[in-house]
Amino acid sequence: MLVALAVVGPLGYLWHASLLPDSYDMAAMGYPDWGGGPGGHTGPGGAVVAVADLVAPTGRPDVRARFEVRQDDEGYTVNGRSPGPLLSAVAGDLVEVVLVNVDVAAGATLHWHGVDVPNAADGVAGVTQDAVGPGEEFVYRFVADREGTYWYHSHQVSHVQVQGGLFGPFVVRSPTADADVLDQLAVVHRYDDGPSLNGLPGTTAVDTEVGREVRVRIINTDNGLLTTWVNGAPFEVVAIDGVDVHEPEPLTGTAVRVPAGGRVDLGFVIPDGGVRVDLGGTTALTFGGDPTTGTTRAPPDELDPLTYGEPVSLGLDPAAADRRFEYRIGKRPGFLDGRPGMWWTINGHHFPDVPMFMVFEGDVVVMQIENHSDDTHPMHLHGHHAVVLSRDGTAATGSPWWIDSLEVGVGETYEIAFVADNPGLWMDHCHNLQHAVDGLVAHLMYAGVSSSFRVGGEHSNEPE
Ligand code: C2O
Ligand code: CU
Repeated sequence: MLVALAVVGPLGYLWHASLLPDSYDMAAMGYPDWGGGPGGHTGPGGAVVAVADLVAPTGRPDVRARFEVRQDDEGYTVNGRSPGPLLSAVAGDLVEVVLVNVDVAAGATLHWHGVDVPNAADGVAGVTQDAVGPGEEFVYRFVADREGTYWYHSHQVSHVQVQGGLFGPFVVRSPTADADVLDQLAVVHRYDDGPSLNGLPGTTAVDTEVGREVRVRIINTDNGLLTTWVNGAPFEVVAIDGVDVHEPEPLTGTAVRVPAGGRVDLGFVIPDGGVRVDLGGTTALTFGGDPTTGTTRAPPDELDPLTYGEPVSLGLDPAAADRRFEYRIGKRPGFLDGRPGMWWTINGHHFPDVPMFMVFEGDVVVMQIENHSDDTHPMHLHGHHAVVLSRDGTAATGSPWWIDSLEVGVGETYEIAFVADNPGLWMDHCHNLQHAVDGLVAHLMYAGVSSSFRVGGEHSNEPE
């Protein structure tokens, strides 16, 4: 937000300096939207709890890491590299990560994308904590209660720091995971000097034997959609956004889309001749050889997760929703932080005059996301997984399609549902981080939660 003035230059800066309040209280921004359900500032319990008190249980961590973040001419690193080190846990582990900001001038945080952490560990500057300045530290603690593929990234000036490299992979394995399966990460990112896979350009060859089972964990850390496809063997989409697909069918000649911020796990068995997994057409992984001549194209057919796999109970009843929200995305001219321009709108309003989606703990929530703009939006809700109910009025018929990052294309309408089971103040924004900085940001707020953090202010908190 405020930092975006860097891109509009000195004139923008003058606008900013003269017109802006010097800090925002996110908990008090926007207009309360109770989604048709009952209101009340403290909710049925009547108590008020601070974001900073919504923490993991005490106890000895099972996984400990120390992540030192740095900045240089080329960008950002975690423990000297980008992507940062793999953080690895077993489901149920208590994880403790110490963020040490060595010299990132604007400050930094760590957000655990797709992990439904307690609110105090969510890592959003100005919302759940203050940006961690150079020479400072911050401790994140959470229980990694669900296996799956996730990632971590800074949520301070994120449109600059994430693109510049301040991120890394996070994998939570099942305690009963099959050790014979070859587990392969595929972190896809476009740095200033071009596209990369696990930090490397081009094709990476993985040595493996025929008959081996492989799980490829694809993480799209970019601002745009990633398309992936497989040559050489039938494959299954075994998980989306860290949640297993129920009874996935084998696929061939089918492209799979991974929204910005999203993850897709692919499974296959290595045949004679090997397997090639293309990631966007510029980087690829090969396993036990390359079954192609090295150039391939995305097949025209695309997987539709709305109909993929077999249904199973959602564990919630959308028909009995306590609240129904609309998240209508548009664009029109106006002012954002005092800057004139064409900015995104939510339900017709410019940030910060956007809805504050208000819930009570335990509510079943249905949200309709409509894209009336001329660009696609990978929408990301923090702290919760939502299940897709329908797209453009067509009901989902496959495996429950649980998401934390959902590509909402131009003109599309998605209906999603979730249970409000993680109290706090949570961002609900577009993960094209350039769109977020241009106003495509709202929040989900639990009644009875207060935050003492401010966007702007003395810590220069700039979540986007
Ligand atoms: Cu991947 Cu609000 O973040
Ligand atoms: Cu967007």
